[in-house]
Amino acid sequence: MSDRYIDFANSSIGHRLVGAIGLPSPVRLERWQAGRLRPVEGALLIGGGPLAEKVNALANRLTDAIYSYGTDPSMATAWIPGHGPKLKAVVFDASDLLQTDQLKALREFFQPLMKNLEHCAHLVILGRDPQTLNDPFAASAQRALEGFSRSLAKELRSGGTLQLIYVGEGAEDQLEGPLRFFLSPKSAFVSGQVIRLNPCETQVTDWTRPLAGRKALVTGAARGIGASIAETLARDGADVILLDVPPAKNDLDALAARLGGRSITLDICAEDAAAQLVEHLPDGIDIVVHNAGITRDKTLANMTPDFWDAVLAVNLNAPQVLTQALLDNGTLRDNGRVILLASISGIAGNRGQTNYAASKAGLIGLAQAWAPLLQERGISINAVAPGFIETQMTARVPFGLREAGRRMSSLGQGGLPQDVAEAVAWLAQPGTGAFTGQALRVCGQSVLGA
Ligand SMILES: NC(=O)c1ccc[n+]([C@@H]2O[C@H](COP(=O)([O-])OP(=O)(O)OC[C@H]3O[C@@H](n4cnc5c(N)ncnc54)[C@H](O)[C@@H]3O)[C@@H](O)[C@H]2O)c1
Repeated sequence: MSDRYIDFANSSIGHRLVGAIGLPSPVRLERWQAGRLRPVEGALLIGGGPLAEKVNALANRLTDAIYSYGTDPSMATAWIPGHGPKLKAVVFDASDLLQTDQLKALREFFQPLMKNLEHCAHLVILGRDPQTLNDPFAASAQRALEGFSRSLAKELRSGGTLQLIYVGEGAEDQLEGPLRFFLSPKSAFVSGQVIRLNPCETQVTDWTRPLAGRKALVTGAARGIGASIAETLARDGADVILLDVPPAKNDLDALAARLGGRSITLDICAEDAAAQLVEHLPDGIDIVVHNAGITRDKTLANMTPDFWDAVLAVNLNAPQVLTQALLDNGTLRDNGRVILLASISGIAGNRGQTNYAASKAGLIGLAQAWAPLLQERGISINAVAPGFIETQMTARVPFGLREAGRRMSSLGQGGLPQDVAEAVAWLAQPGTGAFTGQALRVCGQSVLGA
């Protein structure tokens, strides 16, 4: 599904015209290309408190151009505003800002950078979860980081993104995975997010194939976001098993063959779906991605029982029943990863989507409630909430709503299935057990529900 406005706004005539009449001017986002090795291709600036040292210790695995600003200059080459190179990535540790007057360090650090960022720069702020701090003033200062980071993300131009990561005590050695994701084009369409990292025992051993040796099931994998998820998990080394409804068999088999994977044709709402699925997975499974989903939009006044029931059955009941069966039968292994495809509609609500939004909010609640119960086995469960993604599902949305969905975000455009797939692939990694019970929005910082 193409976005012709982006093509126009980035043409030489279009660019001038769009600027002259003040229309939104979305840029073409840089995305991860096959064969790329370094998460950051350009200058990485690191500064701030004690976690900066931790980041420095792993930074040479992210890029070979490391600069420091406002920290011990012996750690890396000092970056001098107006003289240093333009920056492709920035990490600022704000975890030691514990009083209101210390927050000015945010302005002092970021202001000189704002006009020195490269196209599609990725910024990360580190902090400590306010809920874990006893001192109310310290908790308030750390909570202030949320407002600052979400606002600064909205001020970034040229495809820049910014996230806040609250690093739990003991989770410091889990920083490499999130930094590889959030400082690279893998997170091109993720911005303004607040992430909470917990300690986790498992780690990625080979960053070129972080999912090697892991078996992954993707539902609704014949097309759209599901197909892209299957491709991305296979790229990262997973053995993939693709599931979709019987009418999608041809597309499903073709994709499975191309990825060296296996296919299962099954309606996830069939009465015996759970039993069939367990039977298809005799060797167990490490990663389960509940991606299959449908819309049946109508305002509630016109909502028929079958529209309501179908959406709740596919989107919410099936992931619940299937995950429970995989757990009860020991099919889902220890340190497993469960990823639920929710939607920002489940966060913000959407006219004409009471059924869909209820189902997607239910998935976010499911991740939140199940996470602590599964933690003992090292299993993480998270929701990914896409915003407007260019697929056959959104191609059916009426033109006006489609345009609004695309432009009403900081990045001013829809995302691609690849953007959702990259987020899922990160959540599927062994080290990402540090992140559980949360909803990660992949929405270009959409204004909906922000
Ligand atoms: N496209 C977007 O902008 C967007 C935004 C937010 C959330 N999402 C969610 O992402 C997921 C994928 O969306 P998409 O745009 O790729 O949708 P899509 O309609 O292109 O693909 C969905 C796939 O799920 C399969 N499926 C549907 N019912 C099934 C069933 N009963 N059993 C097995 N498979 C079934 C379909 O055959 C299809 O292959 C969905 O859960 C959707 O709600 C999409």
